[in-house]
This record gives sequence, C-alpha cells and structure tokens, in this order.
Amino acid sequence: MPVMDGITVCRTIKGDPATRLVPVVLITAASDRETRLRGLEAGADDFLTKPFDGTELLVRTRVLLRDRALNKRLDATETVLLAVGRAVEARDRYTIDHAERVGRYARELGRLVGLDAEAAEWVYMGGVLHDVGKIAIRDAILLKDGPLDDAEWATMRTHPTEGERICQPLRSTSPVLPTIRHHHERFDGTGYPDRLAGESIPLSARLVAIADSWDAMTSNRVYRPSLGEAEARRRMEQGAGTQWDGALVQRYLRLVDSGRLTELREP
Ligand SMILES: [Fe+2]
Ligand SMILES: [Fe+2]
Repeated sequence: MPVMDGITVCRTIKGDPATRLVPVVLITAASDRETRLRGLEAGADDFLTKPFDGTELLVRTRVLLRDRALNKRLDATETVLLAVGRAVEARDRYTIDHAERVGRYARELGRLVGLDAEAAEWVYMGGVLHDVGKIAIRDAILLKDGPLDDAEWATMRTHPTEGERICQPLRSTSPVLPTIRHHHERFDGTGYPDRLAGESIPLSARLVAIADSWDAMTSNRVYRPSLGEAEARRRMEQGAGTQWDGALVQRYLRLVDSGRLTELREP
C-alpha cells in the first residue's frame, strides 16, 4: 500500500469514534508474525493469510458484520444509559419517567404505522432522549414557577439543538439525532428549530411529538396537574394537521381507545 500502510489505516479507523466499529480484516503473509502483532495492537478484528480464499473472506466478513450489528446496539444502550444518567444527575424523577413513557408510546405508534423492529427501537431511543438537551437549560428557567419571558423562551427553545449536540459525538446513536432535533417542529411549519413542515419532518420526530405532548398533557407537571384524558384528546384532535401529523393523531387516538396506552404507562 503506497501512501499509508495497512496497520496505519487500521489504527486511524479504530482511533476515530465515528469509525471505530467498522470491522477491519488484515491480509498478511503467513510468516509475518510481527505484522500480525502490530495489527492486533492497532485494533484489527481478523486476519487472513495470503494467498487467501474468497469464500473464507466472505464468511469472516459476515461474522464480523453480525458482531458489528451487536456492538452497535451495545454501544447505543450504553449511550442511552449515560445520557439518562446525566439527566438523573441534573433533574428530578418526573422527567425520567416522562422520557421513558414517550419512548414507549412513540415506539408503539411507530410499529402500528409499519416500522420494522429496528426502526421502532430507534424511535424508542429517540423518545427516551428527546429532551436530553434540557440538561443545558438552567434550573431557574426549566423549573421556573410562572410564565417565561421572551429571552427565557429563546433559551428554552435551544434544547433540541443542545440535545443533538450532546449526542452527536456518539456515532452509534446517530439514527436518534433527527428525532432529538425535530421533536418540536409543527406539522404546519411553525415549530422549531428548523420550521420544517409536513412530511419533511422526520417520521420519528412526528411520532415522538405526539407521544411527548400526550404524556405532558396526561401527567402532573411542575406547574399544573394532569389535564385528564378527555381534555388531552380534545386538544389533540384540535391540533391534528396543524401541530401534529393528522393521520398519526388518528392512529394514536385509536391506540388510546384500545387501552394499550394505559398498559404502556406503567408496564
Ligand atoms: Fe422537548
Ligand atoms: Fe418532553
């Protein structure tokens, strides 16, 4: 390899958090023990001896890709725990239960509208992490006992982008970033941070927006008690097509009617 040798390539890939889960197979000469040891040190996942067999390469690649899928999941779980851990540190239990319920409600709705298992899990994770950016908002604003002024609202509205920023370095959770960033967009295009409208809002964010609002309306909050299910339903119907995706709201309310949501509330 003329510009960079294989070991250096391997070390570069494994040293960058964004690519460290990419499997690396080094192809070496059988006698080259020294290179193999250096390869191991550089983080290589597997070795093949020259001349190598095409079928063997294929089989080993499959195994590595399967492991990689697993690693990605483990890494993601770890990340969620970390983020939730930070949230616990900074906030009360109420927020954590809320985040967890939003994840469960959004995942269920996602499944109902045809997401496959993996996509539904990402929706769940996005739901759990949707407000993680609130960690960056001062208590004086976040827990304020009264209406926020304009400047305080402006600060409050940074939480989706703050959340995205916090989770960005963790490459394995990249599928949740759009959910975090866009969970306060509105279907009519008047939300934030990007004023996206309609189906240009990522589906995961449209799902989480519904689950988030529903849980906020049906839970006791710092500043007011639960509105009750009937009132929450009325507001949801009213906001279908403007605040939220109307078709998803219809589907969601059927989920409420079926009693499934109550089951998911305290599983
Ligand atoms: Fe939020
Ligand atoms: Fe929320």
